[in-house]
Amino acid sequence: MLSVKKRIEDLIVLENNRLNEEYYELVLRSAILLPAIYAGQFAELRVDHTNNTFLRRPVSFYDIDYKQKRIHLLIRQVGNGTRQLGRLQKHDFLNIIYPLGRPFSIVPGKKFLLVSGGVGIAPMLLLGKSLISAGKTPVFLFGFRSEKQYFDLSRFSSLGELLITTEDGSKGTKGLVIDHPVIDSEDFDGIYTCGPEMMMKAVAKVAAAKKLFCEASLENTMACGFGACLTCAQPTTSGMKMACVDGPVFNTKDLLW
Ligand code: FES
Repeated sequence: MLSVKKRIEDLIVLENNRLNEEYYELVLRSAILLPAIYAGQFAELRVDHTNNTFLRRPVSFYDIDYKQKRIHLLIRQVGNGTRQLGRLQKHDFLNIIYPLGRPFSIVPGKKFLLVSGGVGIAPMLLLGKSLISAGKTPVFLFGFRSEKQYFDLSRFSSLGELLITTEDGSKGTKGLVIDHPVIDSEDFDGIYTCGPEMMMKAVAKVAAAKKLFCEASLENTMACGFGACLTCAQPTTSGMKMACVDGPVFNTKDLLW
């Protein structure tokens, strides 16, 4: 399934939609048919027009429209590179290498909990769609610091139940995702998670206690995206792995963290 050849390509920017102070969504179009792209895979984006951002930025695929040859990326502005990418305008070109990395697995079972924090929600839209295509039911549980980080999540709520937590209680249930009552539900056949490491570790612990399948998409720092620079090294039960090629998705029982 994953022998898809990587591409390096200039995609045209169709839209750059500011979602709130931190997040924006880029809509890009390819001139040629898109390759198969799976939930959890990512692209390396080149940041042009700056003197201090030499490395590409790894960004998860948010949504794909094969018919229109469109790629949607959800980006959180956290530094110079993502700020510069946020300045892209309609008709600009963005050079990307894609699709990269090992995606989420679709496994036996009916109902799955998808737990994310912050920009970790990005791969969950494609994952939710993949689960539905496989006849399964996704339930989304997303955590934000406050309502300020929140934006329109109707694309998720149209796919399945959407539960929100905020640390200050300004939206949804007050607290962390791990405090939400749905975490204790016995209804799920597995959990997928993406977001801050502390959150994913807590989710993995819950899954381990319940003996549930659990995969996490790691947000390790990445530079090359090809397994060459070792910046994304991740200790696992079978030795050191590179999150960019062996991941970013790992079964949490294999992670030493
Ligand atoms: Fe270079 Fe993974 S990003 S080895």
